[in-house]
Amino acid sequence: MSSTPSAVFRLATRFDDVGFSDIVKIRNKIMELRAGGASVFQFEGGEPFSNTPEHIKEAMTRALVEHKTRYSPSSGIAELRAAIADKLRERNQIAAQADEVIVLNGGMQGLFGAFQSVVNPGDEVLVLSPYWTPIKDLIAHCQGQTVLVPTAEARRDGFVETLARYATEKTRAIYYNTPQNPTGIVYTREEAEAVARFARERDLIVIADEAYEDLVYEGEHFSIASLEGMMERTITCFTLSKSYAMTGWRLGYAVATEPWMTGMRKSLLYSTNGVSTPTQWAALAAFTQESDFLNTSLAAYRKRRDLLLAGLNELGLTCESPAGAFYAFPDVSRISPNSREAADILLDRAQVATVPGIVFGEHGEGHLRFSFSTSIETIEGGLDSMRKNL
Ligand SMILES: Cc1ncc(COP(=O)(O)O)c(C=O)c1O
Repeated sequence: MSSTPSAVFRLATRFDDVGFSDIVKIRNKIMELRAGGASVFQFEGGEPFSNTPEHIKEAMTRALVEHKTRYSPSSGIAELRAAIADKLRERNQIAAQADEVIVLNGGMQGLFGAFQSVVNPGDEVLVLSPYWTPIKDLIAHCQGQTVLVPTAEARRDGFVETLARYATEKTRAIYYNTPQNPTGIVYTREEAEAVARFARERDLIVIADEAYEDLVYEGEHFSIASLEGMMERTITCFTLSKSYAMTGWRLGYAVATEPWMTGMRKSLLYSTNGVSTPTQWAALAAFTQESDFLNTSLAAYRKRRDLLLAGLNELGLTCESPAGAFYAFPDVSRISPNSREAADILLDRAQVATVPGIVFGEHGEGHLRFSFSTSIETIEGGLDSMRKNL
């Protein structure tokens, strides 16, 4: 007896609550507009505006010339893992050994492995919100539940008190992203200490996302795993995508102890079985060769941030100054309290492309995300167009 086609051609249920990114849909709409001849001021992106530094590209070429093109150990080449452990000890104050480091295909694969290693079906994860959209899908893929914790409430009332309000006996983990996408918030050391205290008291695991660690304009980046008693309960995910303008290279890494590292290794082994070998040799240059790339880019981002912020505030789109990352997240209720509508109005009237705040969860409603990782001309042109057309 054969089954009905609807029962056969049915995607596995674990994908039921996993969505596709809204940002991709917005990108498609912009491509359509551009294909029709319109010029669009693009602020919707999430990529560094600059090119990958020469010394990293040269290291890639060298790796190819030297035939470093075969399988590597799945968790990463020893030289790179050792260099990353040095960086973690020196710059993040995370007491990591090389065997606590795993090299991954971007920050995304680290986060995927982290949630897979920690979250069982039915577990709840506390996510400070607004939050980077894919997190909800990564949790859904584990058949876990996302519980949104408003960041504004936590910063106002205290992290321990606020997290306690949203935690239940099913809470398993906290997702902690600093500098934060989309708000540009950089959590302070005191805030990290409060989150750590809560995690220790409740026996929770922290999944830390430090993708924008090198883009901090005010205050300091602080790694929660560096606090006492936190290394063993934190999986910290990093990426070279934003720091070194390497989004397309797909190179990230994570630091964790056991049992998490076993989960991360299995998740990597049975998905991509490691990162491309020449890419890893190129990444080694980022950690071992002298370069002023990070400082130069930080200054360039700061200039763009200040220019965009002044313009948005002048337009009545009030915006707190982002302390980190490369996004401004102004209140756009003056245009429309519905952020999807506000984004459409901006695109239709001023040819300015942004991301509606609702995409980052209900606490992002009434806001739009503008990336200032673009040319000065785009920022000036976009602001000018908004002044004339709004
Ligand atoms: C907060 C955050 N975490 C992680 C990532 C992952 O970056 P990638 O997979 O390119 O390394 C991103 C990328 O946009 C991000 O914004």
